[in-house]
Amino acid sequence: MAEIKLIVNSKEVFARDPEQTLLSFLRDGLGLVGAKDGCSRGQCGACTVIIDKKAVRACTRKMKQLEGAVVETVEGLAQNGELHPLQQAFLYCHAFQCGFCTPGIIMASKALLDADPHPTDDQIKQAIKFNICRCTGYKQVIDAVRLAIEIADGATKLDVFDNRGWVGDNPVVKNGVERVMGQPLFTDDFHIDNCLQGRVVFPAYPHAKILSIDCAEALKQPGVVAIATHKDIPGKKFFSQELFPQQILAIDKVRFIGDPIAVVYAESAQQAYDAMPFIKVEYEVLPVIATAEQGYDPESCRVHEEYPNNFANRHVQKGDVERGFAASDVIVESDVSVGTLEHGRLELDAALAELDEKGRLVVYGTGQNPSHMRHDICKAMNLTEEQIRLVTRPAGGAFGKLEDLVCHIFAALGTMMTKRPVRVTLTRDEVNAYTTKRHALKFHYKVGAAKDGRILAMQTFTLGDTGAYSSLGDFLNSCTATMGSGPYEAPNVDFNSHMMFTNNPIAGCFRGYGSTQVSVAVETVLDQVAEKLNLSPFELRRVNGLSSGKQTPSGQIIEYSCGFHDTINAVQTAFEKDGLPAPSAPGKKVGFGVAGGFKNMGFGNGMEDGAGCSIDLRPDGKFQMYTGGVELGQGHDTVVCQIAAQTLGVPYNDVDIGPVDDDYSPYAKGSTSASRMTYCSGNAARTCSIMFKDKLLKTVGGLAGVSPSAIDMGKEGIVELKADQLLMTYAEAAKLIADNNASVKQEYYYVAGECHAPCDDNNNIDMDMINHRIHIAYLFAAQVAVVEVDEETGKVKVLRVYVSNDCGRAINPAMVEGQINGSVVMGMGYALSEKFEMEDGYIKTKGYKQLGLPTSLEMPEIKAFLIEENHPFGPYGAKGLGEMALNPTAPAILNAIYNAVGVRVTSLPVDPKKLAAAIKGDKIYR
Ligand code: FES
Repeated sequence: MAEIKLIVNSKEVFARDPEQTLLSFLRDGLGLVGAKDGCSRGQCGACTVIIDKKAVRACTRKMKQLEGAVVETVEGLAQNGELHPLQQAFLYCHAFQCGFCTPGIIMASKALLDADPHPTDDQIKQAIKFNICRCTGYKQVIDAVRLAIEIADGATKLDVFDNRGWVGDNPVVKNGVERVMGQPLFTDDFHIDNCLQGRVVFPAYPHAKILSIDCAEALKQPGVVAIATHKDIPGKKFFSQELFPQQILAIDKVRFIGDPIAVVYAESAQQAYDAMPFIKVEYEVLPVIATAEQGYDPESCRVHEEYPNNFANRHVQKGDVERGFAASDVIVESDVSVGTLEHGRLELDAALAELDEKGRLVVYGTGQNPSHMRHDICKAMNLTEEQIRLVTRPAGGAFGKLEDLVCHIFAALGTMMTKRPVRVTLTRDEVNAYTTKRHALKFHYKVGAAKDGRILAMQTFTLGDTGAYSSLGDFLNSCTATMGSGPYEAPNVDFNSHMMFTNNPIAGCFRGYGSTQVSVAVETVLDQVAEKLNLSPFELRRVNGLSSGKQTPSGQIIEYSCGFHDTINAVQTAFEKDGLPAPSAPGKKVGFGVAGGFKNMGFGNGMEDGAGCSIDLRPDGKFQMYTGGVELGQGHDTVVCQIAAQTLGVPYNDVDIGPVDDDYSPYAKGSTSASRMTYCSGNAARTCSIMFKDKLLKTVGGLAGVSPSAIDMGKEGIVELKADQLLMTYAEAAKLIADNNASVKQEYYYVAGECHAPCDDNNNIDMDMINHRIHIAYLFAAQVAVVEVDEETGKVKVLRVYVSNDCGRAINPAMVEGQINGSVVMGMGYALSEKFEMEDGYIKTKGYKQLGLPTSLEMPEIKAFLIEENHPFGPYGAKGLGEMALNPTAPAILNAIYNAVGVRVTSLPVDPKKLAAAIKGDKIYR
């Protein structure tokens, strides 16, 4: 076979398989893993490289098309140890979070700048329109490209590794250089010799009994080494986050179209797929529960014989809701429905497993809850926790999806069966089918208010679809009930939430976790209350907004750190200063909408909110940290290093942090979720640093014959206080400690303050304030969205979003801004374009593009204002942010649409055709 000759990063290389994609050739053939595979069909842009000066998605090109081509990848950008201006600028501007999209976006930007060194902002947006970034909201990406132009022109010179780095600074993120250089970070980037490929077999029907599974013919197919069914699982055949277990591999029934039946382990992925049709499965097809309403009908067939479909109910009650309605001057009722949604994280789910030299099972993969994952893997494999090492890799976005196990057990099972390394990866369609989604919820709200705007009564009925298994559906049900009034005080409430099993994909954690859906219902119904009372939407929210001393529906008194009113004032002032723009053309209308939002920090509800941390002094004089929190792109590692650096009094660049790894990390319980890691890991890092400092000074003082009180930690080493001079560098201190067989390693496990599960009786709380504290802290937000609606087509363009957030002290303001920008664009997608469609349990939404994720072209102008209402027990006053900025965006956009064209949208996302019909028709969009 003739070889195909091409140039990659200035080197001549040869390909032999004309049908191989360029992406596969780069990653598998040349080990250039900077180009990422997020969809395999040219829809995500993560594999963008430059071919003959043009940005091209590498998965769309076959090698037979590339004879003589000149290919540039991200690995070729840095020259002579110096980062390319784009790489420097992306680092400096915090233009990435998880970094999975970053090499592709950098290459698309480079192709643009090579062709036109001074493009406009619109040209930059056009150049990256095929590169989806789920994290950043694109704003800091555009900023970075602009900065790169200045660097290339010589107008700006950057020192990206300057001395920034303590609390309130914006240092370069940990592992940032690897991200902009496309170096291996993600699970699928690592090569292990002799590795088998595991691929998962999914059912033909969404609801069916399994009568038999016959793998005999499939086992004879070329390259197949083993096939696992439930019979091959040596231990527990279920995993779970709650009381309701999920089967690992189908036992006698499948309950949704992504319920795995078997895993084929073969020498190549293609061989595994080729063998799948030879697996014979006999089914007895059952009726499908396709909606929450069908699940609510007690006559429907059960998804789980042992539980009713209506498996979780929560009732939160306070005061006398009927008396409240009777006293109300206005009553508004509203039905709102929000659909299932895919997280759309770019990285395809993957896991690797192997046996180490001691015969221990080592599992590599991403995950938000390593301690729980380790527990589930051990139970399934019948191993003790000492017989397994879990190594958590950085994630290409998470947004809650990685709370649940995906490929880990399948990879572990393959290794235990074959004694060989095994990699299991899902395709994009398999991610859509198997992995968790945002809960679809239907709300009925009834709100009564007095003339002056005070809410007097609130009643809700909520119906949720958790899919075939619960994941954390029961707990989410609790959230929709306890947070049912949004960030507002209501003296009389009666909130009922029900969660249904259906035959749809499993719903699980997704940024906001119930509070996001509630926000759409509360904020749109309050807009109607304001209109009926002829009150400004800002004023109505101020009248009812929570503040210190006010009470949530579940009876919790807000004790401190509540900046909600300041967030409303900030966005109102900024919006009114700018005013509404004029419509861009006849037939278009502009409008604005307001929404508030809040989100709990931490699990609360009686669960422990804790985090572990360890610090040691390395031989090179740097400080090595490990925590139980996982870096998911949200900035966990950077934030805890900033906190430790400041507490120790040393440069940020001298503090390193490793991944969550059983060989090194301290004990950690609970997941990286619920906006809790800045608070919990940050407090762990701060206290651990204080303890470490004390230990270091005592140890070094003792060994050097100096009183510990006479020395301190300085930026370069241990200093003598009286003489104000360096006693020894940290490397010298490390040597002194090692030479004397001493150790200064410090571990610490932080547990946040007491909180409790919601009480049944939320009245008469005066004597019982602590027992009604269900969360340690709350985060608050307000937004104003400005939209333009085309009355003819129903198309909505979000022009501007004013955002204000109370996150406590901002440890890293640039990363806070990144979370805000990403949340706003995600919220805009939730309102206008994102959908995940199913029909009778079958998935209609295939691929990645079809998810409707916003691109750079839809990016609105975002004006952000931070309200740093410090929390008395947060690390340096911090609370957190990751989810809260998302909550107000969708309802603010819906309220803005109403303000523009007088149509009240009651279901998401807004379909232009339906909106156009409603504009011409009954003014209600359902
Ligand atoms: Fe772009 Fe995560 S940084 S997808």
